[in-house]
Amino acid sequence: GRTRSHGRNEDSFYSNAEGYWKDVPPTVDGMLGGYGSISSIDINGSKAFLQKFLGEGEGKTGSGCALDCGAGIGRISKRLLLPLFQTVDLVDVTQEFLDKARPYLGEEAKRVGHFFCCGLQDFVPESGRYDVIWIQWVIGHLTDNHLVEFLRRCRSALRPNGLIVIKDNVSYEGVVPDEVDSSVCRDLDIVRSLVGRAGLRIVHEEQQVNFPKEIYQVHTLALR
Ligand SMILES: C[S@@+](CC[C@H](N)C(=O)[O-])C[C@H]1O[C@@H](n2cnc3c(N)ncnc32)[C@H](O)[C@@H]1O
Repeated sequence: GRTRSHGRNEDSFYSNAEGYWKDVPPTVDGMLGGYGSISSIDINGSKAFLQKFLGEGEGKTGSGCALDCGAGIGRISKRLLLPLFQTVDLVDVTQEFLDKARPYLGEEAKRVGHFFCCGLQDFVPESGRYDVIWIQWVIGHLTDNHLVEFLRRCRSALRPNGLIVIKDNVSYEGVVPDEVDSSVCRDLDIVRSLVGRAGLRIVHEEQQVNFPKEIYQVHTLALR
């Protein structure tokens, strides 16, 4: 029936993605689909974005613990999160990437709390643990319902004044499937509506500047 065939499609959506990422080299270039050269621009943009929320004072986000979702080898943990937070946890579905994260992060890997090998669709972040939950270039690997449910669990995992950040590709209109890595690219209105379904409010939104013209636009959304 309908439900079971939906189940099988969903199973292959996830298993095809897992198979795709298993064959990708555990490098910055691998993480960015050959666009390793934009990593610094990306990180600098993210740093400026995040710093608006950090610091001392009423309503500011703490710097105790961050979660890097779909972390891969820890490209973002290394240059954005570990420099700003005492402890960082990584979660990714690809064990080979997490294996590489320890040597890639070097000495600072000692401040990683947990390396979780898990699909975000199944991952339950610890309640009240995180000041920041960073979700970059991975939401397209979740179905709409799984993304909404994951964001709800993230909301429960925030500390007071905590923040969820989504940074991802957005399409001009509608949902654009990518058969190669088994993902989808959604337009901004769809992303906003899924965020709303999760009971989250967009508190700040920016488009990443200075990326190559031929790639998707990348938007960063701060949620709480
Ligand atoms: C494009 S890479 C981005 C890595 C990292 N966020 C970065 O920006 O450097 C996508 C990552 O998502 C992971 N991934 C794919 N599907 C996933 C899922 N369902 N749950 C968790 N991680 C997933 C892949 O293993 C890969 O590390």
